[in-house]
Amino acid sequence: MKKLFVLASLVSMGALIQSCLDNSNQTQKHAVSKEQSIERGKYLVKITGCGDCHSPKKMGPMGPYEDSAQLLSGFRANDVLPEIDTNSLKRGWALFYAEGTAMVSPVGISYAANITSDTTGIGSWNFDQFKIAMTKGKWKGLENNRHLLPPMPWQNFAQMKEEDLRAIYDYLMSTKPVKNLVPSAVPSVLQQL
Ligand code: HEC
Repeated sequence: MKKLFVLASLVSMGALIQSCLDNSNQTQKHAVSKEQSIERGKYLVKITGCGDCHSPKKMGPMGPYEDSAQLLSGFRANDVLPEIDTNSLKRGWALFYAEGTAMVSPVGISYAANITSDTTGIGSWNFDQFKIAMTKGKWKGLENNRHLLPPMPWQNFAQMKEEDLRAIYDYLMSTKPVKNLVPSAVPSVLQQL
């Protein structure tokens, strides 16, 4: 009887040790340091092409490339869009500004947002706001605001895993702040021209 008791205690102690090991493995698997998260966010931002629209460009022999001094700072506030060809719009065309930072389509004029860590960008946003903007397509990440206009592909980003969204957020918050107050979008452009 005594032997049985010792055996049972040993078995349960073994189970306890095993479960502790499992837990520590799990924490190891999920504990991502801030640096690792920022590094992953930088990688995701690069491969998903946020800069195609959100970074002002310079022109080179191979076409436009991101202006490294203004990375991810959106449509340049001082730029003025060239005259809009309304006939093309009525015929179903959409117009892309050569830098990729603005688009005119029948649903409106949109200017790519400043997504740097500056307060004219998303520097004062919390993660929940960022998540709402990216997964529900709401302007400034507030539930009651308007929907973001094309070409911001938030419907694709809505599928992103939480940890990837978190990594992108951490990276954007670590970017060099670029002061640039992007003009507001103009919805339903055809009704106003
Ligand atoms: C094809 C162009 C395009 C791509 C690619 C793109 N965006 Fe956007 N994004 C826009 C435009 C244009 C707007 C502004 C839309 C509006 O004002 O209605 C915008 C808006 C946003 C907003 C909301 C800003 C605000 O003030 O509400 C966030 C956040 C954002 N983008 C983050 C990203 C991130 C992060 C990526 C990459 C993972 C990305 N975008 C990729 C074009 C793009």
